[in-house]
Amino acid sequence: MRKQIVAGNWKMNNDLAQTQALLTDLQKQTQTSNAEVMIAPAFTNLYQAFETLKHSNIEVIAQNMHFAESGAYTGEVSANMLKSVGINTVILGHSERREYFNETDESLAKKVDAALEKEMQIIFCFGEQLADRKSGNHENIVEGQIRKALFHLEASSFQNIILAYEPVWAIGTGETATPEQAQDMHAFIRQTLEDKYGSDVANLVSILYGGSCKPSNAKEIFSNPDVDGGLIGGASLNAEDFYAIVNAF
Ligand code: 13P
Repeated sequence: MRKQIVAGNWKMNNDLAQTQALLTDLQKQTQTSNAEVMIAPAFTNLYQAFETLKHSNIEVIAQNMHFAESGAYTGEVSANMLKSVGINTVILGHSERREYFNETDESLAKKVDAALEKEMQIIFCFGEQLADRKSGNHENIVEGQIRKALFHLEASSFQNIILAYEPVWAIGTGETATPEQAQDMHAFIRQTLEDKYGSDVANLVSILYGGSCKPSNAKEIFSNPDVDGGLIGGASLNAEDFYAIVNAF
């Protein structure tokens, strides 16, 4: 059985006091589903979040990391630094990193290698732009993003990889992929994995959906056979909304 996962990507939101307030609210929530729950605060608040939640069911994860071990990379954070504050999972390849910080499939492949080398788990994000969807090129784009960043890996590496399909046109726009669009793409992604690595890998990897996922639509999206959870932006900043999504399984 594949893992069901709901991860909150807080993006560049919440200072120290706001983080503490949201952590307190999260601890008051009741979980009725079996989903694994993760939250990704900003780098500055990771240690505080880890310390606060270390005896809870919520895993604290990072939004990004650099591929180098250490050195002259002003402003960057390494896998070892994350691990030293209790973080064992990192989001890589988010569309905002690709768009605003020039992350490419090639640089992401290096980050993937660095994270795996340090035995970290990865939530690897990808997704097409609106123009790709309109021109019917969305499957090609997604297949290329996965192939270029991940298909140099051995099959065993996929034990530590979670995929997150986030159509760029659905992120922060209020426009969600329909349950059918999500299922079709997730099935395509699983088939792409199967073609390359076989059915054991394809059936093992959890594929999350991200993009305007909220309490009102989570159940319908998660009910699809190839959707194994969600990567949640805006709705993860409110504890009740986030747990309504966690409990939508
Ligand atoms: P929204 O849920 O705000 O659309 O963001 C999705 C996302 O980018 C999660 O990584």
